Amino acid sequence: MPDPQLCSEEEITELVQRFYARVRRDATLGPIFNARIHDWPAHEAKLVDFWSSALRGTRRFRGTPMPVHAALPNLSAEMFGHWLQLFEQTLATLPNAALRERARDLAHRIAESLWYGYQLAHPAPETQTGLQELAS
Ligand code: HEM
Repeated sequence: MPDPQLCSEEEITELVQRFYARVRRDATLGPIFNARIHDWPAHEAKLVDFWSSALRGTRRFRGTPMPVHAALPNLSAEMFGHWLQLFEQTLATLPNAALRERARDLAHRIAESLWYGYQLAHPAPETQTGLQELAS
């Protein structure tokens, strides 16, 4: 459950800024983000709203993460794993243990659900059924 007492807005802002600073200079994820995000302050403000809504229940986030990620080409399970690694490295720099634990748990659950949705939107070729198989 979201909890306004878990942390402050300043701590969320710190988390988001430190995380995307790490993402932007990452060899794998950096190019994906840098190719799409042209207004970093706006992206970070949106992600502060996202984490503030998820962790503190402020309900400010108005977005649609599932179709946004489904529209990105060539994502993989490894990339989601790497995203989580960078997120956890960022959390380790924060002093608030309750925030670290809650954010880690949520990030894992959301990453799993985004990856699940991504695979539904991008079925692997070997699992696609062609018309011939259907007819035989
Ligand atoms: C491989 C992993 C991931 C990649 C490459 C990725 C990449 C991106 C990119 C490029 C955008 C901006 C899209 C745009 O504005 O055009 C975005 C938006 C966003 N991402 Fe991710 N992402 C990943 C995983 C995650 C995870 C695990 C979370 C949450 C725990 C997350 C939360 C969000 C949110 C909330 C937005 C804003 C969505 C919206 O505008 O409605 N992302 N992501």
